[in-house]
Amino acid sequence: MYNEWNLDSIDLTKEPPQEEPARQCYFMAKCREWVQDFAHRNKRIPTASIQTFGCQMNARDSEKLAGILEQIGFLLQENENADFVLYNTCTVRDNANQRVYGRLGYVHSLKKQNPAMLIALCGCMMQEESVIEKLRQSYRFVDIVFGTHNIYKLAELLHLRLTCCRMVVDIWPEGKNAVETLPVERKYSYKSGVNIMYGCNNFCSYCIVPYVRGREKSREPEEIVSEIEGLVKDGVIEVMLLGQNVNSYGRNLKSPLSFAELLRRVEAIEGLQRIRFMTSHPKDLSDELIQVMKESKKICRHLHLPLQSGSSRILKIMNRRYDKEQYLALAKKIRDEIPNLSLTTDIIVGFPGETEEDFEETLDVVRQVRFDGAFTFLYSKRTGTPAAAMENQIPKETAQKRFDRLLALVQQISREMDGRDTGQVMEALVEGTDSQHEGMVTGRLSNNIMVHFPGSAEWIGRIVPVRLLESRGFYYMGRMEEQ
Ligand code: SAH
Ligand code: SF4
Ligand code: F3S
Repeated sequence: MYNEWNLDSIDLTKEPPQEEPARQCYFMAKCREWVQDFAHRNKRIPTASIQTFGCQMNARDSEKLAGILEQIGFLLQENENADFVLYNTCTVRDNANQRVYGRLGYVHSLKKQNPAMLIALCGCMMQEESVIEKLRQSYRFVDIVFGTHNIYKLAELLHLRLTCCRMVVDIWPEGKNAVETLPVERKYSYKSGVNIMYGCNNFCSYCIVPYVRGREKSREPEEIVSEIEGLVKDGVIEVMLLGQNVNSYGRNLKSPLSFAELLRRVEAIEGLQRIRFMTSHPKDLSDELIQVMKESKKICRHLHLPLQSGSSRILKIMNRRYDKEQYLALAKKIRDEIPNLSLTTDIIVGFPGETEEDFEETLDVVRQVRFDGAFTFLYSKRTGTPAAAMENQIPKETAQKRFDRLLALVQQISREMDGRDTGQVMEALVEGTDSQHEGMVTGRLSNNIMVHFPGSAEWIGRIVPVRLLESRGFYYMGRMEEQ
């Protein structure tokens, strides 16, 4: 692993090696020379800031980027007033893109005051040709641009920018072999995301992810298990297994393996206490998985199962490959088998051609399933997806009205659902101190609901029993029980 790499022992007078990860270590050492020179000239260590816009996978990528910058010697900070600012972008909905352009305007003003400042863009949005075109024309102050498949090359690209080119652009249309052994700087000491697969093959007709993340590719189970073992040695007690559709994990491996089987292997890792995963596609959720969850002591009582729409007609056009009845039956089966599980979902409103009747079907599913929580989204047209070319786009006002109705319903139901364990004692993983109330900490229950209770910062990263005294809608107030 990277810990065995000693950057001091690399001979920088030689040509860079071709093989990875040695090549990136060489460039990290090169960039470190630059950092040391900067520190000498300016009497301070250069600062770097990573801004993350997307999902958990995006956030995990940011930890990998942070690991590289840390190794190079940058001082990492939250705010963007830094010597090196990196935006890890998302493009799943247009508002994610607009936020990035907004921030670029702001950072440009910072760069005018500090012309030596370096600005980099990476992530999903960069995989779109139209975006690159726009950056080349109107955002010439950006220094480095790369995509989703080559984030491990950050040190090499930074070195290229420092030694020659004005604007370094490196976008790969598909992933080659991702380099997984570089340093990672985790945001939390006690929990971590773990990629179990990359990309997506589902091509839901509204979704841009398969175009910007490439084809589905599972990692070898041994590699995943050994990464988690390493994390556990380093103090991690909870992992979140990440993939766009974890239920199809392992199908394209040389020796195919089901996601349920992978979970069994992860469960066996000593010292690991909690397992979560994201995201489950209803079409691939197996009975075997439900059984593994039911029997497990470590898998958390939470399942995120995106519905997208309750109308079978719309689901077909969305290319989701399940219908309303199948979803309802699946949700019922899960609730019957694991009664204390919290079921959450994603719903899109205003998909092209959605009628009032279709929308009513969505409301009907929400009423029947009674989700513990739901993320609701206004449909956003993504260029290049089949849905963007559909003629019957829904007027904004109509979609917005439906959205408001849906939101009111899901909130009302989840408020009722989330209080159902009031009075019970449950285990909570303490995640932080409560910024609103002195002397309080915030913990996450197995079912993903938060609880606030009196405690101290020393408890962060520990699992403690908490009595849930009062429900405040989407969270509880509680008190720690004697252990
Ligand atoms: N792979 C995951 C979802 C990834 S994107 C899955 O299939 O469940 C996260 C959520 O964004 C999706 O579940 C969907 O609800 C929403 N989403 C994706 N594309 C969208 C679009 N074009 N407009 C609005 N919401 C969208
Ligand atoms: Fe997008 Fe569908 Fe893949 Fe999820 S499963 S990332 S919604 S194409
Ligand atoms: Fe966004 Fe890319 Fe995730 S588009 S939702 S950051 S996979």
